Amino acid sequence: MTIDLFEDSPPPPWREQLGPGAVVMHGFVRDHGPELLAAVNGVIAQVPWRHLTTPGGFVMSVAMSWCGNGWTSDHRGYRYSERDSRSGQRWPPIPDILLALADEASRQAGFAPFIPDSCLINRYDPGSKLSLHQDKDERDFDAPIVSVSLGLPAVFQFGGLRRGDPARRVPLAHGDVVVWGGPSRLCFHGIMPVKEGYHSLVGPHRINITLRKAL
Ligand code: SIN
Ligand code: FE2
Repeated sequence: MTIDLFEDSPPPPWREQLGPGAVVMHGFVRDHGPELLAAVNGVIAQVPWRHLTTPGGFVMSVAMSWCGNGWTSDHRGYRYSERDSRSGQRWPPIPDILLALADEASRQAGFAPFIPDSCLINRYDPGSKLSLHQDKDERDFDAPIVSVSLGLPAVFQFGGLRRGDPARRVPLAHGDVVVWGGPSRLCFHGIMPVKEGYHSLVGPHRINITLRKAL
């Protein structure tokens, strides 16, 4: 990776360890909001926001888009896909700035160099939430999940390996990055309903970008 976008950034102002292999790097990309948002908007132009239906038949409150390997959820379950089944085209590539961010965040969190092949983008309007779940549809659990928060703040729930384990509530703000992998890779996590608000750059939404090794 030759992009040096993050080399001049100051060290992360505040790290919060959530467990073995799980860390919040508060403010990690705070100075890169405009470029990250431009990258997101470039993807959205090609893969417009959509509200997927869960395997249980519920329409998700979170709107989604993606690049790299895409994401499908329907009555058959969840799965990743290389192509848009309607057009037969590959989903758009992951923008370089997101590849660079994923690698840098992975290393700084103590993991190996990371080349994600999938990037899911979530938009939370006020009231949207994501129930406790595990990210377990990826083929490779050796790679961490790198998760970037932009826009409105939210409360991240981070629990244990069993659904009933107590979950910690971690406030996440614009520019925070969470990395979880190793022994925490399959920890349950979720997002509490996002409160009304307006972010000067992002508007009345929270945007989350997760970078993954899916296939
Ligand atoms: C996710 O669990 O995939 C997204 C988490 C978040 O929005 O912070
Ligand atoms: Fe998740």
